[in-house]
Amino acid sequence: MCGIVGYVGERGAQDLIYKGLARLEYRGYDSAGIAALKKEGEAFTTKVIKAPGKLKELKQYWGQIDFPSTYAIGHTRWATHGEANQVNAHPHRAESITLVHNGIIENHHEIREQLLKQGVKLHSETDSELFGHLVLAERKKGLGLLEAVRLAFSQIHGASAFVVMDEKLPGTMVVARNGSPLVVGLGKGENFVASDVPAILDSTRTIYYLEDNELAEITKQAVKVIDRNGKTVSFRTVEIDWDLDSIDKQGYPHYMLKEILEQPRALSDTLSAWLDLAHGKFRLDSAVHSKRSSGDAKIIRHEDLIEAFSKATMVNIVACGTAAHAGFYGAQILEKWAKIPTRAELASEFRYREPVLRNTDVGLVVSQSGETADTLAAVKLMKQNGMKVFAICNVRDSSIPRECDAVFYTNAGIEVGVASTKAFTTQMALFSVLAGALSSAKGEISADQEKVWVECLGHLPEVTRHYLEDYSSVQKIAQKYATKKGFLFLGRGVYFPVALEGALKLKEIAYVHAEGYSAGELKHGPIAMVEPDMLVLAIAPQGEGLLHSKSVSNIEEVKARKGTLLSLGAEKDAQLQKISETYLKVPSLSFPDLLPILATLPLQLFSYYMAVEKGTEVDQPRNLAKSVTVE
Ligand code: F6R
Repeated sequence: MCGIVGYVGERGAQDLIYKGLARLEYRGYDSAGIAALKKEGEAFTTKVIKAPGKLKELKQYWGQIDFPSTYAIGHTRWATHGEANQVNAHPHRAESITLVHNGIIENHHEIREQLLKQGVKLHSETDSELFGHLVLAERKKGLGLLEAVRLAFSQIHGASAFVVMDEKLPGTMVVARNGSPLVVGLGKGENFVASDVPAILDSTRTIYYLEDNELAEITKQAVKVIDRNGKTVSFRTVEIDWDLDSIDKQGYPHYMLKEILEQPRALSDTLSAWLDLAHGKFRLDSAVHSKRSSGDAKIIRHEDLIEAFSKATMVNIVACGTAAHAGFYGAQILEKWAKIPTRAELASEFRYREPVLRNTDVGLVVSQSGETADTLAAVKLMKQNGMKVFAICNVRDSSIPRECDAVFYTNAGIEVGVASTKAFTTQMALFSVLAGALSSAKGEISADQEKVWVECLGHLPEVTRHYLEDYSSVQKIAQKYATKKGFLFLGRGVYFPVALEGALKLKEIAYVHAEGYSAGELKHGPIAMVEPDMLVLAIAPQGEGLLHSKSVSNIEEVKARKGTLLSLGAEKDAQLQKISETYLKVPSLSFPDLLPILATLPLQLFSYYMAVEKGTEVDQPRNLAKSVTVE
């Protein structure tokens, strides 16, 4: 969380920083700030502008930094310590030192007390400001900036990334990274630093991904990298070979709506890499390995992946939020079809609960951004236990893919809306591919079954496109139920993760109370909440089978207690339709375990229109950020 950009070169720094920050606003939008160096006579002074709220709020102060400068740093904040006001916004200053920070200084209490005892005057409530004073103290001992930052860095605990400048040393930035992402961009007569590549991709494609516990001294001519002990690191850059997707709203009122309606394309781009439609076969030869140290991306063979997963004593799926819901779905279908013991859990729990991990187990993490701190920590934990770890990820070359043995990229395209939509359905689609490939390789399904499954996946983008044609009809339904007191999403089996996801989406963008439950759990507590003012959203689009009839019985129990029922069901499910006040038809599929993907779509639209009804900030809901790089 928090986005950082720094520039040193020959061009107007302020505009470059502003444009870079605009590409990083997904990392936080509580406040923003820019510091630029101004030449006044022979000396340089630092001018800082900052404002609470979105990046555009900075424009009202632009006049204060509207001077020629070729050296500046900027920040967009997701508040951790101290409320989101102007004082707590970055950059922070300590006399000649100015810095921006992403992360958390865990021992900030001790450092604050120590500084206050020394008589240091602090201005903000942030942990970040403290670091400036630690650097300043080292500078006052006569040390160079790089050495001063290195020594200050050794005094703090926790995941952090810093960019530091000192007006007494114009033209030199020092950056440090441990646990929070930071990339150095190398140009001709200019250099950059940023939390993420898109911030600087318009200016350079030559990137060095700083490793944990590395620092760099950056001037316009040179970049020097050292480790925590001060030893010079010879580093290898990579050339970025991908382009930024269009991040235009294309006429839609919100990115979220655009991204919901983009799912047919996202599914098609994702699935085309993994299906041999001509032969009705799954193929896993599009997974890549992209280690930052080697700079090489190489293809992993289908057979190697099959072997790694088939031999696994356990597949541990680990993720956060929406990605975890995709993982809960993935665990069900991997175990059911490929007969591989699989468990799925939340990364924030997994990393601290001391799980028993064997080197014969396999890890599979899921992440849209590839930066989520808890998921990244889970990867490292599994690697430390000698496990092979794979990722399903959307953002190329982000931190998680670079730590994993191979990556299954989702190809959903850039997801701008904070609420994840197309990432979720493409993650589920990839789990389906993996389950299909493994069950086929292990002989758990026949060639005919594989063909049906592959063809069904192949048609999925088209079915989705058709299903979304009437998307605006969901708006009336959202309007009808917008004032309900609470929302209970019910689903069983593969629809349980969809229920969890439906509730999460509604909470995060419409700010209403919503719960996702397994329908089978209803009478173990939540049924007490059922009353006419509670909308129960029942997800049961598979019109037959034992689990379906059990689900319908659970839904009948809601009806018997005068709950208001909105159901997602099969076109011909007369029974479910009869008991529901509102009924949304879900088309049938020849491979029914893909129905959760279709069932997700009306729920995304329902949340979206509920949020529109409530007038919330749909694309940037309060208190959230797109990339959660702190735990
Ligand atoms: C919800 C949402 C979050 C993310 C979670 C994990 O709409 O977007 O719950 O799913 O923060 O993020 P990634 O997938 O980037 O690891």
